[in-house]
Amino acid sequence: MPVVEGNEKLKILIRRAAIQTRVREVAREITKDYQAQRVHLIGVLKGACIFLSDLVREINLNTSIDFIAVSSYGKNKESSGQVRLLKDLDSSIQGLNVIVVEDILDTGITLCYLLRVLEQRNPKTLRVAALLDKPSRRIKNVKADYVGFKIPNDFVVGYGLDYAERYRNLKDVCILILPPE
Ligand code: PRP
Repeated sequence: MPVVEGNEKLKILIRRAAIQTRVREVAREITKDYQAQRVHLIGVLKGACIFLSDLVREINLNTSIDFIAVSSYGKNKESSGQVRLLKDLDSSIQGLNVIVVEDILDTGITLCYLLRVLEQRNPKTLRVAALLDKPSRRIKNVKADYVGFKIPNDFVVGYGLDYAERYRNLKDVCILILPPE
């Protein structure tokens, strides 16, 4: 059982087995779409690190990976609307088939910023894979090319997603229920 802090409660939304099955399906789709080409996965730290680790091992192509770190949430549950670049890529993406790997697409503010920044660097192609998608929360007009699961507007943690940096290690995606203030 996961270690839960205080009166916080967790309710499983997507079980680990379902995640594993879906990650394999998404990887198969990517393998088919790019056929014998190389794909360059860019993980958006920190949330995407677990999804990317599982996804890349299921892709049957020539792959490379890099990471970028942005933050818009801080310690709160709500996006501040301001995106900060905390860590840039290590290498150029010019001429590469880039797939941005996100754990969750929520308001779209982060992805909108990232796509703008990455497009300017002349990748050959630029697509997005998001494990989770909350379409009801969208503010910016962006979408992912590969989506693991569409989910309702609950605050979720686990499989890379955090609340105040905790719960990233949960194997299932869980709804976090906070005690009343
Ligand atoms: C989360 C998540 C996405 C972004 C999605 O990152 O990993 O990058 O928010 O939300 P949006 O669509 O509303 O912009 P966060 O800033 O919480 O950082 P983290 O990945 O380090 O947890």
